[in-house]
Amino acid sequence: RKAKRLVDDEEVEIRRLQYPLVSDPRRSTHSVPFQQPSSLLTFSYSPSRVLQFDDSALRYYVEPPPNADLNYGYDRWIRKREEKGRLDGLLRAVCRLVDRNGIKWLQDIGIVSWRGVMTKILTAPYEEREGWELNVMFVNGTYYFEEHASEAKLREKEDITQKHRIRMYYGYAFESYCSSDSPNGRKNYTNSRDVSGWGGDVDTNVQWCSVVKTKLGDTRLVIGGEVDCVRGQFNGKTDNFVELKTSIVIRNAFDETKFEKKLLKFYFQSFLLGVPEIIVGFRTPSGQLRTVQKFQTIQIPRMVRNKPGAWDPQISLDWGNNFIAFLKSRIDASELSLGNKPRVWRVVFKPREGITASLLDDQGVQEVQSGEERFGFLPNWYAEELRA
Ligand code: A3P
Ligand code: MG
Ligand code: MG
Repeated sequence: RKAKRLVDDEEVEIRRLQYPLVSDPRRSTHSVPFQQPSSLLTFSYSPSRVLQFDDSALRYYVEPPPNADLNYGYDRWIRKREEKGRLDGLLRAVCRLVDRNGIKWLQDIGIVSWRGVMTKILTAPYEEREGWELNVMFVNGTYYFEEHASEAKLREKEDITQKHRIRMYYGYAFESYCSSDSPNGRKNYTNSRDVSGWGGDVDTNVQWCSVVKTKLGDTRLVIGGEVDCVRGQFNGKTDNFVELKTSIVIRNAFDETKFEKKLLKFYFQSFLLGVPEIIVGFRTPSGQLRTVQKFQTIQIPRMVRNKPGAWDPQISLDWGNNFIAFLKSRIDASELSLGNKPRVWRVVFKPREGITASLLDDQGVQEVQSGEERFGFLPNWYAEELRA
């Protein structure tokens, strides 16, 4: 049987959520409210990947030099190892918020997740190629979402081609040119080989993250994610956050449609963290920066409306709301407390098909724990915090 890792179908049926037909003009969508995210706290990862509750990794926006070479510094790129999509860093932040606000604060939260996972969920109605899998736990009334990356998928990510890796680097090089570690816009030149406007060599271990609270429909969410830089001074709010992106220069109508489709991901990635501005560096295929364009996140849906690559954020929010309702109706209400045995669900999204949710069997749960000190995918120290 294919679903070996899952509890037998006889015991727990595979539960399915129908995929929305975004192209059906008769479809009716509810207008699902999404609350403006508010900032709860920020933290940094150091070069040695230590999480610190400070803003040491915060960077400030500066104008990039015209025609910057995005190949610059590639040889000195310090690459973060591909890792499982663990929630640990975000859970450290949640613990800190529970210490600050009391455990009752957490009881109000419906979902705890990284921003990347929420982006995948919300953009699923328009995703035609890439499926994904989540591990889901439901503890004390809160859903925890972790991206499920199999060993094979991690290896695949580590083994990408040199060409692909350089293209990935262009995004980070653009970030370096566009940001400074000091608020007055001066850059610290660490290296005499540095070209004009270079913001320092790329170390993808270093990240500045923001944790926000928001609400989709009736569900309160706590979402964490990386923020590329801020404009001016950091004031503890999200209103001067900046997302940096690169994209290939647009030469024809075909390229334009492709870019409009890409804007869906840019939009939700930023929207979920309350990032109001997205700055896109358009580059040549070989990594020469050509133009820089600034977008107000909230204006993006209007820009693509009635265009060939159009999408409607309401379809995504409505789908997201249905997705949550699906989990609520299917994942047993009996999982309200921490029992002796963790229960982990596997949610699988297949493009053009939809979502299934199934309960993992003991072996499946062990694979999720992967020999680590965990209760399902939650670290033991977090489960202890919940029990306390
Ligand atoms: P670009 O998006 O400019 O190409 P982010 O934009 O989220 O801040 O990420 C910075 C860069 O990391 C991206 O730059 C891209 O190169 C790389 N990156 C982010 N998410 C990725 C993914 N899912 N797969 C491959 N590369 C990714
Ligand atoms: Mg980023
Ligand atoms: Mg970015």
